[in-house]
Amino acid sequence: APARAAAPAAGSGALPIGNAGSFPPDFLWGCATASYQIEGAVKEDGRGPTIWDTFSHTPGKVFNDDNGDVACDSYHRYKEDTQLLKALGVKTYRMSLAWSRIFPEGKGKLNPKGLDHYDRVVDDLLANGITPYITLFHWDLPQALPGGWQNRDTAYAFADYAGVVAKRLSDRVNHFMTVNELRCFTDISYMEGRHAPGLKLPPAEGNQVRHHGVLAHGLGVQAIRANAKPGTQVGLADNTSFFVPVIETEEHIEAARKATREENAMFLTAIMEGRYLDSYMQAQGAAAPKVQAGDMKAIGSPLDFVAINVYCPSYVRADASAPGYKILPHLPESPHMASPWLYVGPEVAYWSVRCVHDLWKPKALYISENGCSADDVMTDGRVDDADRIMYLRNCLGHFQRATREGLPLKGYFLWSLMDNFEWADGYSKRFGVHYVDFATQKRTPKLSAEWYRELIRRNALV
Ligand code: NOJ
Repeated sequence: APARAAAPAAGSGALPIGNAGSFPPDFLWGCATASYQIEGAVKEDGRGPTIWDTFSHTPGKVFNDDNGDVACDSYHRYKEDTQLLKALGVKTYRMSLAWSRIFPEGKGKLNPKGLDHYDRVVDDLLANGITPYITLFHWDLPQALPGGWQNRDTAYAFADYAGVVAKRLSDRVNHFMTVNELRCFTDISYMEGRHAPGLKLPPAEGNQVRHHGVLAHGLGVQAIRANAKPGTQVGLADNTSFFVPVIETEEHIEAARKATREENAMFLTAIMEGRYLDSYMQAQGAAAPKVQAGDMKAIGSPLDFVAINVYCPSYVRADASAPGYKILPHLPESPHMASPWLYVGPEVAYWSVRCVHDLWKPKALYISENGCSADDVMTDGRVDDADRIMYLRNCLGHFQRATREGLPLKGYFLWSLMDNFEWADGYSKRFGVHYVDFATQKRTPKLSAEWYRELIRRNALV
């Protein structure tokens, strides 16, 4: 193993250049949030209702019947949020736009006030030296769209909206992500019923929802390219299922690659290969999605980058029987963070990047989200979230390995800048590096914010 360069003398202020724990000089550090989780102001300036307004106001759907009516009030406090980013020293901010502020009914009549708002947010970020990365759809689907993602027309409505945004913002915004986490806004929302709109559709209809999701992405890519300035970078932010080979041998690594490709057949694999794998179509049989001419070409539209949200892994081993791998289930008592689904397995940070690279060789890769919930307690005005630092440090060590091996990982967005509305968990699960007191809207940097600032300052593991 390469020897670690000696640490610079205390107080010298020098960066540990060449330290085995350093990141590439142009590595982009950032934070991420999403509109419905932070904005609040749900009735302001002509915003139309979304499926999450409806769902969260339906008793029993969200923990404690919480909703995003106020959230972090970022619609009004975005300037304060920009200053939090600036104090951290991040160079980028991944934020999403609320489609229904711009098209209150999802399509048709444009609401200029919605675009004006995001103009101001973007200008404020740029004035403070922070580059916005914009996600166009992070789950707050306009309620007025008939049938939501069950309706193919929603994919076209999304593309129209994406084109309008690209036209307006691409003079200042260079990076757009179409959709966030396909599996969540399709499977969890329309098949498992845990997220808005809370449906439990049978496989044939569920597969069609999935198809409309990837189609929206593909049509969105085309619309952005048709409307944005040349050179605009387009990708998506996906929570691809990722696999860690239990033992680092070629046999098990190949199993991890295979699992990544097969288990994401309806999402990232379709997008990267422009087709559904035969194994997926055969397994679905009569329930397979109905695909129209031209769909797969749109879905497979070339991308400038792929961004992935990386949280917890599955472990996998090679297996002699088809399909050549065996996914090893987590046990309920396996170590996890405050969210029960967030099993700890930091090696996934490396293997996510490695498998996407090995399989599809995207031009660039970003981590659009990584972070964790923790049972944060404010004591004497401080939140000493050592467990979050443990989680992040472990993951970043494995992301750093990816950069050290020359994989094209360009940047990292920590989820999240601040505590916010954690979907069906309401405000009970905190993911921020800033603590939000939801009664007063006061933001307080946690110890993890201090740690992240130091890591960014050194551009190296701390
Ligand atoms: C994924 C989602 O994109 C984000 O909205 C969510 O809050 C985090 N993961 C944490 O669960």
